[in-house]
Amino acid sequence: MNTPLKISILAGAMFALTACNNGNDTRAIEDTKAAEIWPKLDIAVKQDQEVEATVKEIMASMTLKQKVAQMIQPEIRDITVEDMRTYGFGSYLNGGGAFPNNNKHSTAEDWIKLADDMYLASVDESVDGTNIPTMWGTDAVHGHNNVIGATLFPHNIGLGAANNPDLIEKIASVTATEVMVTGIDWVFAPTVAVVRDDRWGRTYEGYSEDPEIVRNYAASIVKGLQGHADKDFLSDSRVISTVKHFIGDGGTVKGDDQGDNISSEQALFDIHAQGYVGGLTAGAQSVMASFNSWHGDKVHGNKYLLTDVLKDKMGFDGFVVGDWNGHGQVKGCTNDSCPQSINAGLDIFMVPTDAWKPLYENTIAQVKDGTIPMSRINDAVTRILRVKVRAGLFDKPSPADRKFSGKTELIGQQSHRDVARQAVRESLVLLKNKNNLLPLNPKLSILVAGDAADNIGKQSGGWSITWQGTNNTNADFPGGTSIYEGLQQQVTAAGGTINLNVDGEFEDKPDVAIVVFGEEPYAEGHGDRENLSYQQGDKRDLALIKKLNAQGIPVVSIFISG
Ligand code: GLC
Repeated sequence: MNTPLKISILAGAMFALTACNNGNDTRAIEDTKAAEIWPKLDIAVKQDQEVEATVKEIMASMTLKQKVAQMIQPEIRDITVEDMRTYGFGSYLNGGGAFPNNNKHSTAEDWIKLADDMYLASVDESVDGTNIPTMWGTDAVHGHNNVIGATLFPHNIGLGAANNPDLIEKIASVTATEVMVTGIDWVFAPTVAVVRDDRWGRTYEGYSEDPEIVRNYAASIVKGLQGHADKDFLSDSRVISTVKHFIGDGGTVKGDDQGDNISSEQALFDIHAQGYVGGLTAGAQSVMASFNSWHGDKVHGNKYLLTDVLKDKMGFDGFVVGDWNGHGQVKGCTNDSCPQSINAGLDIFMVPTDAWKPLYENTIAQVKDGTIPMSRINDAVTRILRVKVRAGLFDKPSPADRKFSGKTELIGQQSHRDVARQAVRESLVLLKNKNNLLPLNPKLSILVAGDAADNIGKQSGGWSITWQGTNNTNADFPGGTSIYEGLQQQVTAAGGTINLNVDGEFEDKPDVAIVVFGEEPYAEGHGDRENLSYQQGDKRDLALIKKLNAQGIPVVSIFISG
């Protein structure tokens, strides 16, 4: 064997050995690096021995069926109160556009009645043998936006523009109050996506592309919803919060909703994790897993992220709830069966449609056959019960008898709307002010045009009464004010004149025109765009502005966009 070959083989061997050593070294380096990337958070809510003892005591009395039921979260359109009595689900939700009795015009009393019926059925141990109170989760993402008459706030992207964490905490506190009037305990907010591609349909649900703003806001929202860890934490004036969607939802390729985030692990922390640093440090008790993938691997099935990073390295001791059958997207899973998600660290399946029943049965079977270790079930249920005990759910009265329940005067009350007014004002972004046309003299003769001028639904965006924020009329927003109505109040009071004509037609030429236009409301993937060009192909709003300009009328344009 001549030298080169020997050397090459030896070298090869050496290289292999080295590589092998390096392999161990590389893994060791990766582990070290990973340890450096994900810090143990100084979470404000510390474990309490009494809470832990109570949880342990409850756990000791629970059967496997009762434990798995705590991990199933069905939707109100898919279960009855009797199902709740029979199974004792740990929680349930109303998705966007789901209302008690499927009635969009449900009153606060209708919401409370459903909450009370479900709660009383959950603590009735006559059928399922347990009296563990259930929890109702809802998307109150810019006020209690499912409920007609509730105070609505600008979406997060507008609030980010305000860059005012104190205001954000006030908004969250108002939202918590109005949510509790309807007997609900848990809010799927804040979204702490750090949005890196504005083509994403959920860009407006993120506060900013700046991780620091998101980190600060996340902490403020969590404190506003849950209270401060050392002050009125989850008291009878507060609700459970959820930081979402873990992790990387705002950084997918091309902004594809539920797409693939290919950030490095360091960038995942530096950019996409900062909302969790802020929100979890402030004591957020739940995290919602994200639909997106990380390097092609769906987060709902990613043990490294859900368990090793979130729970072990960062120290999160609350629970992880899935997102809308997100487990069904994990490789090898269906909506009816997904041990992979539970083993990865998901604690609650959010399982709308009738998939909840087979999922419940399959999960029990997968524990019995060893696919899912009992230790994982015990960890998940311990986390769920820990949050319920911390939230005082075992001590609080039923929803109908709680502090704010039924106090419908709180919904949309003036002091809440004053906060919303300040938020709207601070959410406005002045792009330019040619010839210092602004501020307008309210004594002028003003024409207001554009299809968003007198359309409260359009100015409110997605997640407003309905999921997509469409199919609403101004009458669906009692107490709300359209942009035209607001201008009309101010101009009339000042002695000016103001007329509304969507198409910009007029009899007497106005001194100035205000054209209010923008995107139709949308939510989630429905808002994904190929590019940011507005009204591609049919620039009707631009034509309206040009038409007015061509008549020598100065134009103020108000653009509503997510
Ligand atoms: C949706 C959203 C999530 C929301 C959940 C419940 O698909 O992704 O933000 O909380 O379902 O409505």
